[in-house]
Amino acid sequence: MQWRREDLHVAVRDPAAASMNFLNEVAARFPDAVSLAAGRPYDGFYVADDIERYLQVFRDHLAGAGLSASAVDRTLLQYGRTNSIIGDLIARTLAVDEGIEVPAEAVMVTAGCQEAMIIALRGLCVGPEDVVLAVEPCYVGFTGAARILGIDVVPVPEADDGLDADAVLRVAREVRESGRRPRALYVVPNFANPSGVSMPTAVRRRLLEVAAEAELLILEDDPYGLFGLDDEPRPTLKALDREQSVIYLGSFAKSVFPGARVGFLVADQVVVDAAGRSSVLADELSTVKSMLTVNTSPIAQAVVGGVLVESEYSLRVANRSKTEFYRRNMRALLAALEQEFGDDPRISWNTPSGGFFAVVSVAFSADEAMVEVSARDYGVLWTPMGFFYGAGGGERAIRLSCSALEPPRIEEGVRRLGKFVRDRVS
Ligand SMILES: Cc1ncc(COP(=O)(O)O)c(C=O)c1O
Repeated sequence: MQWRREDLHVAVRDPAAASMNFLNEVAARFPDAVSLAAGRPYDGFYVADDIERYLQVFRDHLAGAGLSASAVDRTLLQYGRTNSIIGDLIARTLAVDEGIEVPAEAVMVTAGCQEAMIIALRGLCVGPEDVVLAVEPCYVGFTGAARILGIDVVPVPEADDGLDADAVLRVAREVRESGRRPRALYVVPNFANPSGVSMPTAVRRRLLEVAAEAELLILEDDPYGLFGLDDEPRPTLKALDREQSVIYLGSFAKSVFPGARVGFLVADQVVVDAAGRSSVLADELSTVKSMLTVNTSPIAQAVVGGVLVESEYSLRVANRSKTEFYRRNMRALLAALEQEFGDDPRISWNTPSGGFFAVVSVAFSADEAMVEVSARDYGVLWTPMGFFYGAGGGERAIRLSCSALEPPRIEEGVRRLGKFVRDRVS
């Protein structure tokens, strides 16, 4: 039996997935091209031999807490609690690193941050009138998650300092006036993917006020928070949250390793039923998780748990050398851009204060066809910013990633990019 592709759900044809496949396919065809498109963490940090040690540390931790050898085996190898076996360790780490004080019951461990987004969206959006707001340009994992659930994402334009609070109020009001219900706002306050933009603390505080005013929950996604260029404190929205307005989405993909596929959400909101009984939102959401993935692999959780115990509950400390590496890379990227384009008024770029990404504005349409030309004739790959907009935008801008390469390759990539860009604009 043959099936028409058009008869499958729109998520099967997700444009962002198609774009990412396109980039991978171009990268495979031009293997000598320098990829300033790949946003994955640097390979050199990963040593599979470490996994055994982490597992042992976690097993010793459980034994130290009084579990018998067979209970330890069951914890790792049997079906487990839906929400987590390491929620307590994550809660402790969040307190040490971020000043986020939440009970372990508010933590749900998920199959990457990606699953956390899906579970939060599913729990919050009830009917077709429910929509989510998201700062645009937006991480495609979030818009893709909403798409598979059939939830509309309404953009709020990003500002140079992250977000214009009045724009949030305006968009929320327009959504209400159109008969729909804005349920939440998705933001990446630290070194956003794709823009690299961060919110100053004053903007974060204002955003919390505005969210309360507009009756919006905030979905705060923070995978890059450890990787600032300096040690300035950048309080998470969740740490500033006094009204339980924030659901915090966490990922261990950059702070531990992506192959663990472990992330989490923190949802400490109180939920009350018709009979007046109350519970914690993370507990309510566990039904969704149980139908999605039953529970996050306890073996993967145990590896991450071992990392947390070994680091004495500070990923900031455990990630010192990674932070230094990514700082060096971001500085190398920004210096190379200055060297290449510093005296060309037609080209500009932003200067992120950390993270993996920066955006270059070019004076021509930087689309997929241009990526192909760039890879084939100039040996450099980048990501069109247009990929991160729902209905137009970012046409004349490109995202550069500096996470997966060492500085000499970043510099070579920017040199090649310089030639490509100059040939287009001249
Ligand atoms: C903003 C953002 N959120 C979430 C993720 C992915 O998290 P995970 O690998 O834990 O699913 C990424 C990865 O690129 C990201 O950039």
